[in-house]
Amino acid sequence: MHNLDALKSEILASFEAAVDIPALEAARVAALGKKGRLTALMKGLGELGPEERKATGQALNRIKGELTDALDARRNALAGSLLDARLTSEMIDVTLPIRPETEGRVHPISQVLDEMAAIFGDMGFTIIEGPDIEDDFHNFTALNIPPEHPARQMHDTFYFPEREDGSRLLLRTHTSPVQIRTMKAGGPPYRIVAPGRTYRCDYDITHTPMFHQIEGLVVDEHTHMGHLKGCLIDFAKTFFELPDLPVRFRPSYFPFTEPSAEMDIGCERKDGVLFIGKGADWMEILGCGMVNPRVLEMAGVDPKRYQGFAFGLGVERSAMLKYGIPDLRTFYDADARWLSHYGFSAGDVPSLVGGLTQ
Ligand code: PHE
Repeated sequence: MHNLDALKSEILASFEAAVDIPALEAARVAALGKKGRLTALMKGLGELGPEERKATGQALNRIKGELTDALDARRNALAGSLLDARLTSEMIDVTLPIRPETEGRVHPISQVLDEMAAIFGDMGFTIIEGPDIEDDFHNFTALNIPPEHPARQMHDTFYFPEREDGSRLLLRTHTSPVQIRTMKAGGPPYRIVAPGRTYRCDYDITHTPMFHQIEGLVVDEHTHMGHLKGCLIDFAKTFFELPDLPVRFRPSYFPFTEPSAEMDIGCERKDGVLFIGKGADWMEILGCGMVNPRVLEMAGVDPKRYQGFAFGLGVERSAMLKYGIPDLRTFYDADARWLSHYGFSAGDVPSLVGGLTQ
């Protein structure tokens, strides 16, 4: 009996000492397997006398039951701790922020064009585009720009070589030719904005030979100066995200609008830094006016019946003002450091709420 108790303790200890399921299985085989120590004793029962066989048999069966229970308990414990270990080692911390990926940046020009398109789209404007290469008629003549107008002179306009008929194509100096193309393409009403590249032979801190404008044209039977002002004031406040942005209209001159105006927004300059909003200063942001009846006439629209307004806005200039970019020329340096500083994440581009048509 004493020996059996010692054997039981030894086997129990071997179960406890098993650190994983395979080790426990080996301990089980060593004790209870075909050639196990306990099995060997059971096999030996036949050699005992009847009295002793009964007593030893009962004792061995009891011990076998206890060992089996202990084995199950140890197996469960090992499986549990195995799961715990896996849970700890394979834990996913769902609260960790995602690792920043290297992502491209949206150029301020693209960003601002999208912002403007979204605002005008929301107001019900359709977005259209015109060609960069224009002829004299669409860029000048049809816009009531007489031949002696300074905008026609070589220092302003990029001309292509003369053609056989003596005419020269040119790179459009503003987006206003899209007004003419729109009106010639079909009858009123018109409510369009036309973003795009424009070209002038000029280069300094506020001028680059290529820059962007967005043109607006609204023509129907009753659109008046009040609509022009309301539309552009709403636009400026939305674009600059300043509901109380001061705005003023100054009389001006454009051959294709009458009357013409320039729109200024309030600003303040402090220690060389410009602040948009309430302040002592004004900053011009766009040209506008009521479409000159002569322009309507040249585009085939009856000026006795139809009237409306047009405006043209510099995209770079607006981007510089809104996002505090000091030098226009840096827009075109293609410097990745500049872009990562002034650029936008793709998610910041607003949707074109009104839709991009044509
Ligand atoms: N085309 C003008 C410019 O480039 C802007 C403008 C557009 C003014 C429409 C009035 C109406 O300066």
